[in-house]
Amino acid sequence: MSRKPAIIGAMDSEIAMYLEHGEVLQEHSWHEFTFYEMNLNGTPCIVSKSGIGKVLAAMTCQHLIDKFEPSEIIFTGVAGALNTKLDIGDVIVSRDCMQHDIDGRALGFPRGTILFSDKSLFNADERLHDIAMSAYVDGHEIYSGRILTGDQFFTHKDIEEHSYLYDEMNGDCIEMEGGAIGLVCNENKIPFVIVRTISDKADGSAAEDFSKLHHLVAGNSYSIVSQMLPKL
Ligand code: ADE
Repeated sequence: MSRKPAIIGAMDSEIAMYLEHGEVLQEHSWHEFTFYEMNLNGTPCIVSKSGIGKVLAAMTCQHLIDKFEPSEIIFTGVAGALNTKLDIGDVIVSRDCMQHDIDGRALGFPRGTILFSDKSLFNADERLHDIAMSAYVDGHEIYSGRILTGDQFFTHKDIEEHSYLYDEMNGDCIEMEGGAIGLVCNENKIPFVIVRTISDKADGSAAEDFSKLHHLVAGNSYSIVSQMLPKL
């Protein structure tokens, strides 16, 4: 069996375009998850929805690796901006990612480091990163950056109150799955990259922007991933 790339998104809106534009060859169910074996513009791949948050993302990712042995994993979807240069619709390609909400400072570990280990930042695969950076989206910028992950949806006010996200951790955007994917791929030695389009900004009303815009802007992540597939 030749190894295929796998694409994961957290929400239906984040994988809808793959299912619409590709041909589904076979569906595999595992607990509440569905894994679609697909042909997307001539490229065989696996597509799956994880659900939201680090635990569901980790479960999906590990099962995908165990069952399908993918050649690489691309996580795709939307994120909130931390870096003020980012506009809604701009894309961040992960240079690296980190769990911002793991916090063992009381025991002397820096915020973001898994306690009693030196694991904190997970580097994206350089080749996948560069392929994603060479894509194009009409009217928007693509930036390389740091993705921060935690099990919280952050509003504008939350981001202001957690200034360490950009001051200390140097995050460019915030979301709820990428750091878990980075950790699982790192443990399994599977190349990965995260491609996130900005759906809400620190200077706006994050919850409102997210609800209004995530369907629309998820299209930019889709556009980049579909440009990547033939180059893998
Ligand atoms: N995903 C998209 N916007 C987000 C936000 N503001 N916080 C966490 N995850 C997000």
